[in-house]
Amino acid sequence: MEIPAYAARVVGRLEKAGYEAWCVGGCVRDTLMGRVPNDWDVTTSALPEQTLALFDGVFCADGEKPFKAVPTGIAHGTVTVLSCGQPVEVTTYRVDGEYTDCRRPDSVSFTSSLTEDLVRRDFTINAMAYSPTAGLRDPYGGADDLAAGIIRCVGDPVKRFSEDALRILRALRFASVLGFTIDDATADALLALRGLLDKISRERVSAELAKLLCGRDAAAVLSRFTPVLTQILPGAVVDVPLLTRLHGEPLTTLLAALSADGSDLLRLRFDSRTCSRVALLARERNRPLSCKLDVKCLCRDIGHDAARELMRLRGDRKAESWLLEILADGDCVSIAQLAVGGREMLSLGIPSNKIGNVLDALLNAVMEGRVPNEKSALEEFAATL
Ligand code: CTP
Repeated sequence: MEIPAYAARVVGRLEKAGYEAWCVGGCVRDTLMGRVPNDWDVTTSALPEQTLALFDGVFCADGEKPFKAVPTGIAHGTVTVLSCGQPVEVTTYRVDGEYTDCRRPDSVSFTSSLTEDLVRRDFTINAMAYSPTAGLRDPYGGADDLAAGIIRCVGDPVKRFSEDALRILRALRFASVLGFTIDDATADALLALRGLLDKISRERVSAELAKLLCGRDAAAVLSRFTPVLTQILPGAVVDVPLLTRLHGEPLTTLLAALSADGSDLLRLRFDSRTCSRVALLARERNRPLSCKLDVKCLCRDIGHDAARELMRLRGDRKAESWLLEILADGDCVSIAQLAVGGREMLSLGIPSNKIGNVLDALLNAVMEGRVPNEKSALEEFAATL
């Protein structure tokens, strides 16, 4: 397994000081699959204060960059070590206490056993540890599940999902993104416990849903687990052929495909740009587009990018080909593209409170092909208005 140098030197320094240290979780899973991990997490027998002492402001030999340690989550045992400027989360081997809110443990305690740390994790494929000196530690069969493409909870699925209900969506997300199957007992538990998702913050739910939707198997996963989706988006509809066709399109198109009127999404918490784009797609979804001028008017009203998204959502190839022509020919569809502007209108003696209307009329005339988009022709036409 290849570990980037910045993470390997964190593990190496902990080991040299006599502690156990392992890369753990998503980075091991992704590397074994040949995917590039988002980040590198380390689990260690060192207590947080020991990690802090070992890394803070340490200058390395041979001109290597110093480490820096930041106590980002000390109560949960996490210290962020900056190594060559890259963050590595170093967390002490942990046993979680009771979970009463389905979100996080009421308390955590530290342990000296790697296996105890791995058993509290969500899925077998996320419960593997690797160290360059000691190799792979995989007490729950994560590598076999990874090879077979299975999402399976570590231990009792009911317990795992009751501890942190977000794991219900994480299971669906991994199945969708990796193209994996969810093991039967895990699937039964997550369906039965889906109501616990109501306790999870809308931000965390939205972030997981976004990743799930963009995954390669989103359509299949959502159709198999529709009750989970309607738990978080009651009005959502899973149109399998539509979602399949839309794979690879922007998140906003995928969200619009789930929700007939877009208002449902207000229950979740996406950024305002995402919400307004989805609302716009919902609003324009059935707008007639039967000729090129209709498409020009659409571009004028919502812009080229949103127009393209709308056509993909509708699967309207004819309208999309008109849009491509409009783009390729640089057809004028906005006042900004007109060969004249407010200044020319003023010098024609048009009163300033009328200029907006005149420019609108010029734009329409150009779009309809009644006047060429040229300065003299437009000025002449404006004088007749
Ligand atoms: N984990 C868990 N339960 C959660 C979240 C995380 O048990 N609800 C554990 C898993 O072992 C996971 C690790 O913490 O692998 C790191 O979690 P995170 O960084 O959120 O996700 P990754 O699994 O690393 O996946 P990705 O980075 O692709 O989101």
